[in-house]
Amino acid sequence: MKVTVVGAGNVGATCADVLAYREIANEVILVDIKEGVAEGKALDIWQKAPINLYDTRTVGVTNDYAKTAGSDVVVITSGLPRKPGMTRDDLIETNAGIVKSVTEQVIKYSPEAIIVIVSNPLDVMTYQAHISSKLPRTKVIGMAGILDTARYRAFLAEELNVSPKDIQAVLMGGHGDTMVPLPRYTTVGGIPVTELIDEEKLNAIIERTKFGGGELVKLMGTSAWYAPGSAAAQMVEAILRDQRRVFPVCIKLDGEYGINDCYLGVPVILGKNGVEKVIELDLNDDEKAMLESSRIHVREVMEVLEKLG
Ligand code: NAI
Ligand code: 2OP
Repeated sequence: MKVTVVGAGNVGATCADVLAYREIANEVILVDIKEGVAEGKALDIWQKAPINLYDTRTVGVTNDYAKTAGSDVVVITSGLPRKPGMTRDDLIETNAGIVKSVTEQVIKYSPEAIIVIVSNPLDVMTYQAHISSKLPRTKVIGMAGILDTARYRAFLAEELNVSPKDIQAVLMGGHGDTMVPLPRYTTVGGIPVTELIDEEKLNAIIERTKFGGGELVKLMGTSAWYAPGSAAAQMVEAILRDQRRVFPVCIKLDGEYGINDCYLGVPVILGKNGVEKVIELDLNDDEKAMLESSRIHVREVMEVLEKLG
């Protein structure tokens, strides 16, 4: 199985590294626009193979998309990351141009690939890649929900002093401050979280999760990469191994949740065809209202992209 990761920066290189050391793919092609960066990072990952004992081949190229031909999955991380004071939406014009040109290149050489978008603003970059690739909506999907849910799960594990492995949760909506956490669907070893934590503490964790990306930007001067890179690799694994995992993933909604023509995070079954099924939860009125405000926000950013042409 062959995977291309476009963008050999913090997130792309981390994703390639996880794909290699966990032997999720046989071959990983890392692409960047900056001369030598992808080549260097791919070589470094390959030189780690005898130490960490894996045999995934990692190859780096500068803008040479012919080398990506026949990829089963392409992860697109190319674009500018957030700097302090920037919102994800500030990135739209630059990153839309990058995602458009990269998608056109990868699809030329891998017309059957499933595309996983990471570049921000996530929901709208998924839209850009979907229209540029002309692939079915189930094959052009965005990574954000796994990351946002992981942050929520990590905060809960810390507060409850339990293993993060035992926390199951789902978050919906756009990747941003309007994301929709769902405490009703959060469990700790099968126990509803609301039986283990008081409302005030849970609300504080939800708020921290909503601004989880910004917390890291403030600390590091750029956005996160370990959890985002691992989250993208987890999506690739579910697809290549046809695991049919249930994850929140960004996809164009076609009537699900009563929403049309909007790219939002929803729980799906992820397998060899990309999104095998969108799972429709029976949301209560408050949850529906939060999803609607997330939809309005993403739709506004989609309109910015549409105006840019
Ligand atoms: P980075 O700056 O470390 O890496 C980006 C790389 O893309 C650079 O190496 C750059 O040379 C490359 N690049 C730029 N234009 C290119 C092109 N046309 N073709 C190929 N490569 C190109 O940034 P980082 O931290 O890796 O973030 C990447 C993107 O992912 C950003 O847009 C960031 O906001 C987003 N992100 C999204 C997350 C999510 O949950 N969806 C989480 C974390 C980051
Ligand atoms: C994150 O959530 C900035 O989208 C990026 O870390």
